[in-house]
Amino acid sequence: MPSDPHAAPQSGTEHEPLLGRPGDVSQGRTDPILKNLITGTAPLAQAGGLILTALVFGGVFTHKLLIPFSLHPLLNAFAVLVGIQAVLIPQPTHTAAQKRIGARVHAAFWATALMAFVGALSAVEVHKKRAGLGHFESWHAILGVAIYALLVLQAAVGATMYFFPAVYGGVDNAKSLYKYHRITGYTILSLLLVNVVLATRTYYGGTILGIKTWATVLGAVLVVAGVTPRIKKQKVRLWTSSS
Ligand code: HEM
Repeated sequence: MPSDPHAAPQSGTEHEPLLGRPGDVSQGRTDPILKNLITGTAPLAQAGGLILTALVFGGVFTHKLLIPFSLHPLLNAFAVLVGIQAVLIPQPTHTAAQKRIGARVHAAFWATALMAFVGALSAVEVHKKRAGLGHFESWHAILGVAIYALLVLQAAVGATMYFFPAVYGGVDNAKSLYKYHRITGYTILSLLLVNVVLATRTYYGGTILGIKTWATVLGAVLVVAGVTPRIKKQKVRLWTSSS
């Protein structure tokens, strides 16, 4: 049977370079959406995310648990891992049906991550209030608050532009925001990774838990190495319209 030149490239075939070219990983027509979590360079990102989670969970659970403060690192590490899944899921989608499912699963992952982020923020704020500690006293704290603000904005715009495009005057207007949403999304993920690294420079993260900065840098670099080659350039190009 002659091959269809318009058929979506099958992911994970011999035609796909080991480390991938930018955006070359596409979901095969019959591939399940969850396969997007492991195709192309995604395993690098998964390894990085698991390293970060293991470092934080390992550090917290091998030391005295502080209630509620220990929930701060635990929930944040969990949320970052879920956020990585949220970013990986829609990257290889290209047909209308795949994009529709991808967007919904993406939203569900971020909704889960957001709940964990809210819990993590509450844990540190309750702890600071009880202990009479000040705010914004480290780069980790300053960047953390900025990230939470960006996340709320990003989630609000993301959900409305997709589920309620009328807010922006129609589907076309809403779709013109997608590329900005993608760029902000990659920026937020990068900032989250930086903040996990900065957490190792706090007294608790670095000295009490003993989490090594270099190990978190390694995890963060793997996440970036896994996510970046899967970015389809045309989806983030600022000077063309894309959906
Ligand atoms: C990327 C995920 C994370 C984000 C977004 C984040 C965010 C924040 C924020 C916003 C604060 C300060 C709140 C305030 O000043 O009122 C804070 C404090 C703190 N966080 Fe995180 N955090 C993250 C991960 C972690 C991890 C993994 C650890 C430990 C290993 C940690 C340890 C701390 C400590 C010890 C404080 C209190 C000291 C300080 O304010 O600098 N955080 N975090």
